[in-house]
Amino acid sequence: MVTARIAVLPGDGVGEEITRAAIAVLDAVAARGGHSFSYSFGKIGGAAIDAHGTALNDETLADCGQSAAILLGAVGGPKWDDPRASVRPEQGLLRIRKELGLYANLRPVRLFSALVDASPLRRQIVEGTDLLVVRELTGGLYFGKPSERRDGPHGREAVDTLAYDETEVRRVVRAACRLAQGRRKHLTSVDKQNVLATSRLWREVAIEVAAEFADVTVEHMLVDTAAMRLVRQPTSFDVIVTENTFGDILTDEASMLAGSMGLLPSASLGDGELGLYEPIHGSAPSHAGKDDINPIAMILSAAMLLRYSLDLDAEARSIEASVQRTLDDGFRTYDIMGAGDGRHKVGTQAMAREIASRLG
Ligand code: IPM
Ligand code: MG
Repeated sequence: MVTARIAVLPGDGVGEEITRAAIAVLDAVAARGGHSFSYSFGKIGGAAIDAHGTALNDETLADCGQSAAILLGAVGGPKWDDPRASVRPEQGLLRIRKELGLYANLRPVRLFSALVDASPLRRQIVEGTDLLVVRELTGGLYFGKPSERRDGPHGREAVDTLAYDETEVRRVVRAACRLAQGRRKHLTSVDKQNVLATSRLWREVAIEVAAEFADVTVEHMLVDTAAMRLVRQPTSFDVIVTENTFGDILTDEASMLAGSMGLLPSASLGDGELGLYEPIHGSAPSHAGKDDINPIAMILSAAMLLRYSLDLDAEARSIEASVQRTLDDGFRTYDIMGAGDGRHKVGTQAMAREIASRLG
């Protein structure tokens, strides 16, 4: 019996609807297992800018830091999109990742068999896809200084800084090796060592870390090759580890293997039990309030929350199995309606109810 307080940051756009859907499933899990989950709600992104003038305030951050885990919807929207604005919704996301030390972002890409036709790629290519991208989340271009726009001798100029130190590389590659040990024991470390100094350091440190894990086979691949291989032979990957920006780009690409951005969850972890769980998709403002967005990415993120922050692996597996059964039974949100044997078109909350009703 586990008692836990979960901080919920719905954010913007469809965030409220998908977090509500995930909470319905978590409550069903709690009722079955005799667990007790409580939720404290806070604001992040545009919603926080409107309320407090900043994308994540100190109180909300402190509350998240004291919770067992954080469930986050999505941030951003046209209302806050002015490129010259000094406060932007994304700053809230970057702040919470950085200040809570959540450096390892796990993005599993698994193809549900009921949805093999949902991918724009041919069945022969995507069938059997089951990979995990571990994206470094608190370093690199996203956080390097200087990062600014200024006036230079040729007019307007801008600079971003890509920097990594060896401890940042070592800890995330280690995390990826441990995850590979629990899977098919194969790790692909992705870099651009033929061009970037940070990538040469990355590869050097990755080779040292790999030596600590005799049972894991480690290969090193350039990011352009990895991008190509993801669509040519996705089944050749088990665990991929890479730096922040490469991981951002490769995971949007990889989401198409599963058929829809609406299916992919993520977990952001640090050295402790605390984790941040969010779908990889954005706030989809044009769908907000329509009850049609696919909640599966958020619900699978809640499953990861149970696994990594609350040590409830059986419960996590029961959510994953129940998502699979719901899809096998033909329930589809609009984004995957055409795939496989789609017989019942459902909205966001109805999909959550179908999943909750199939828990083992
Ligand atoms: C993601 C998103 C974010 C990122 C944006 C919203 C800042 O694209 O989580 O992949 O780039 O990390
Ligand atoms: Mg992204």
